[in-house]
Amino acid sequence: MNPQIDNLLHENRKFPPSDAFVSQALATAALYDEAKADRLEFWANQARELHWDTPFTQTLDWSNPPFAKWFDDGTLNVAYNCLDRHVEAGNGDRVAFHWEGEQGDSRSVTYAELTAEVKRAANVLSGLGIGQGDRVAIYLPMIPEAVVAMLAVARLGAVHSVIFGGFSADSIRSRVDDASAKLVITADGGWRKGKVSALKPAVDAALEARGDLGPQETVTNVLVVKRGENQVDWTDRDLWWHEEMAKADAEHEAQPFPAENPLFILYTSGTTGKPKGILHTSGGYLTQSAFTHKVVFDLKPESDVYWCTADIGWITGHSYVVYGPLANGTTQVLYEGTPDTPHPGRWWEIIEKYKVTTFYTAPTAIRSFMKLGRKIPKKFDLSSIRLLGSVGEPINPEAWMWYRKVIGAKAAPIVDTWWQTETGAMMISALPGVTETKPGSAQVPIPGISIDVVDDDGVHVGTGNGGLLVVTEPWPSMLRGIWGDPERYQETYWDKFGDKYFAGDGARLDDDGDIWLLGRVDDVMNVSGHRLSTAEIESALVAHPFTAEAAVVGAADETTGQAVVAFVIIKESMLEESAAVEDIAAVLRSHVGEQIGPIARPRDVFVVNELPKTRSGKIMRRLLRDVAEGRDVGDTTTLADTTVMQIITGQVSAK
Ligand code: PRX
Repeated sequence: MNPQIDNLLHENRKFPPSDAFVSQALATAALYDEAKADRLEFWANQARELHWDTPFTQTLDWSNPPFAKWFDDGTLNVAYNCLDRHVEAGNGDRVAFHWEGEQGDSRSVTYAELTAEVKRAANVLSGLGIGQGDRVAIYLPMIPEAVVAMLAVARLGAVHSVIFGGFSADSIRSRVDDASAKLVITADGGWRKGKVSALKPAVDAALEARGDLGPQETVTNVLVVKRGENQVDWTDRDLWWHEEMAKADAEHEAQPFPAENPLFILYTSGTTGKPKGILHTSGGYLTQSAFTHKVVFDLKPESDVYWCTADIGWITGHSYVVYGPLANGTTQVLYEGTPDTPHPGRWWEIIEKYKVTTFYTAPTAIRSFMKLGRKIPKKFDLSSIRLLGSVGEPINPEAWMWYRKVIGAKAAPIVDTWWQTETGAMMISALPGVTETKPGSAQVPIPGISIDVVDDDGVHVGTGNGGLLVVTEPWPSMLRGIWGDPERYQETYWDKFGDKYFAGDGARLDDDGDIWLLGRVDDVMNVSGHRLSTAEIESALVAHPFTAEAAVVGAADETTGQAVVAFVIIKESMLEESAAVEDIAAVLRSHVGEQIGPIARPRDVFVVNELPKTRSGKIMRRLLRDVAEGRDVGDTTTLADTTVMQIITGQVSAK
């Protein structure tokens, strides 16, 4: 590749950790030295923090790349590691979850209570014929039962496939079929945006959609948690969760399973239309999710209250709500609803209520709060916060600084964590108390992780240059494949470089060697032969005082190949001031030109009221590209708000 992604964010601000933080920090620079001295022994030591029924003797088997085996001859039970061992260690009374319903109902669940519920649930599932290797689909709201269901499946050595509650019946059907799931666990409904959002009807529709076509129905039962109290249809295969739980035996002894026993499948979109079932296994996954959760969040299990806002339907919910934090005996907040219900300060109110110390969220959320203004968080006492995390997309320096000032009181370190569904756990992040942080950069590989930025031929680009992000050595929580499609696994991630995992992200090494993520390479544009990153231009746009949020796409252009098209939301507080400007688009275009260079100047800037986002908060650039290229807008079913595209199309065509 010609690494032209070098019109980059020139960030000179650096924030060394405070003496107060360093003096109590868990991580020290020695971790890097240890990992460097003997990478495999380093990971073996991290794995030994878990409870193994049979200790492993071999750390890594990489004899058949890219199919890795970690800790292969060891056996363990993942759920035992997340539950029973904490109770046996005398920590049964510690709260595992402070659960908060959207309506303000709440419930605190201790480790002893969670363990007891998972034991019962494991008995319910085995009574329904679920055993080692069977697949169970989970389609639930953010309620404690979602965690119980996942851990009960794991306890039996079975495999869960959590389907995000915002997905449609078709998506459920295709996921159930792809994994040949035997059981679906769902709820009548859950609370979202002030009302009950029904879930079971989508499962019913998915299962009815079988018709005469396709393979034999594999689902024998549907377990239904009562949460929304909404009316639901009932069929012979349906069972109420609470009734089955009441009947179930309270005793359940966790059995050991091999380290490479599959733990879960999680579907994620690829470049083709068919989602990929990313497969994760047990010992390596738990090792890396627990280790990173501990050191990146400087975890003090006795005193911290940790809150990761991700839904359990995404990898962040798997690794940093369920497995990592529970393996470490963490006390967490689990929130059912949306950030703005019933009022826009809901999240900050929850932080105040539970005295959250460690908060982990996505840049898109941070930018939405920026848009609303600092007055809202300022109404709440956020003084308990001592550490902030970011995940999911590049965080622009503007949002980073806002997060630091408004939420972190200019004191809490911010860790920007880069990883993917495929990597299973964090791969790049600052270590708080060790790394001098830089707004906008994910910075350095986690100890024991080998990352590089290379050109198209796989050659290291060197500091100051841009290229493709690769992982050069196998890591414990790496995906073990794509469910049922080993060739696609090989092709998608390994064929490009042969011996390196290709992450699909563009990245740049700055002069200090720190890593800056530039977005997916499929979001990298080529304008007049120059490579430009959507993230880079968005960051420039958001740095303008008028801009709250921006999304940039590359639209086909006869002259330049691709042209930069930007969609921008103006900050509420700037509406009056911006209205007085004759041509906002021209102002923003030249601002980008000034920030990055004339080549990056957008061809079009459209001021819009909303951006199309999935319910997980990802901007759907595909739809914006459709608008920018004057096509009919494609499938909008995964949007949080399906009307938003009509409005944007109207706004753009009115120009
Ligand atoms: O492009 C990167 C971006 O999100 C992609 C992975 O998405 P997903 O599998 O849904 O997992 C999201 C949660 C881990 C990556 O290829 N991404 C994730 N974290 C960051 C990021 N981009 C920049 N900075 C991050 N911290």
